Amino acid sequence: MKSIIVGCGGHGRVVLDILRAAEIHEVVGFLDSNADMSGRRIDGLEVLGDLSALGRVRHDLEVEGAIIAIGDNGVRRHYADICERTGLKLVNAIHPSANVAANAIIGRNVVIAAGALVCAHCQIGDSVILNTGSIVDHETMIGTATHVCPGARLAGRVSVESGAFVGIGATVIQSVRIGCDAIIGAGAVVTDNVAPLTTMVGVPAREIKRTCDDEWSTWLVPESLRRTAPVS
Ligand SMILES: CC(C)(COP(=O)(O)OP(=O)(O)OC[C@H]1O[C@@H](n2cnc3c(N)ncnc32)[C@H](O)[C@@H]1OP(=O)(O)O)[C@@H](O)C(=O)NCCC(=O)NCCS
Repeated sequence: MKSIIVGCGGHGRVVLDILRAAEIHEVVGFLDSNADMSGRRIDGLEVLGDLSALGRVRHDLEVEGAIIAIGDNGVRRHYADICERTGLKLVNAIHPSANVAANAIIGRNVVIAAGALVCAHCQIGDSVILNTGSIVDHETMIGTATHVCPGARLAGRVSVESGAFVGIGATVIQSVRIGCDAIIGAGAVVTDNVAPLTTMVGVPAREIKRTCDDEWSTWLVPESLRRTAPVS
């Protein structure tokens, strides 16, 4: 399928490399919100314009697919909505060296980078990045527009709610839940649940910031629904 990559920064280059390695989609160009990038070539691929060019690119180049290669979780989710409203299909970039269990459920606009492992019965939501060498162990649920950074390791039955960020090299022990928009610092070891909108660092992880009051600090997924990964 003819596809475009939205975002031509560092993550965009990674996604281009994955799509070229996977040889599933024909990548025809980048779009980028920075209009100054228009006309430049990144790793041999032209930046065709900013997001206002979506309709033209879709029509003139017969593009059918798009993937959003933006590191910011909220912006990635927002641009995915825009692309879908334009009629584009959101495609995934899964590196051939990634190992994804046959019974894992994978959403749309998902990036699974080189060497990443997704084990049995995991559920991976839309617009998720499982970055280079990350490990997502059995029955773990990863919510919409989250980012699991390079080398991060999530044990079995972890829940990561939407918008959360798990920093490079972080470790999360089994059955822990990480609330929406929480931030886990690089190298942290998370041993207990993390409230939404909270930043945790260190070993064992301790809270350094909480940007919500009680009204916002609710779990998105009720406890009763949390461990419903399909079983065979
Ligand atoms: C957790 C993080 C987001 C905090 O950033 P921040 O909110 O700007 O926090 P600050 O830099 O002001 O640090 C606040 C305190 O936490 C400590 N701290 C920050 N990050 C830490 C980490 N990863 N591990 C241990 N301590 C950390 C700081 O030393 C500081 O301690 P102090 O108050 O005793 O001086 C950031 O440091 C981090 O780890 N980001 C992840 C980066 C990453 O994974 N990148 C990969 C991208 S693919």
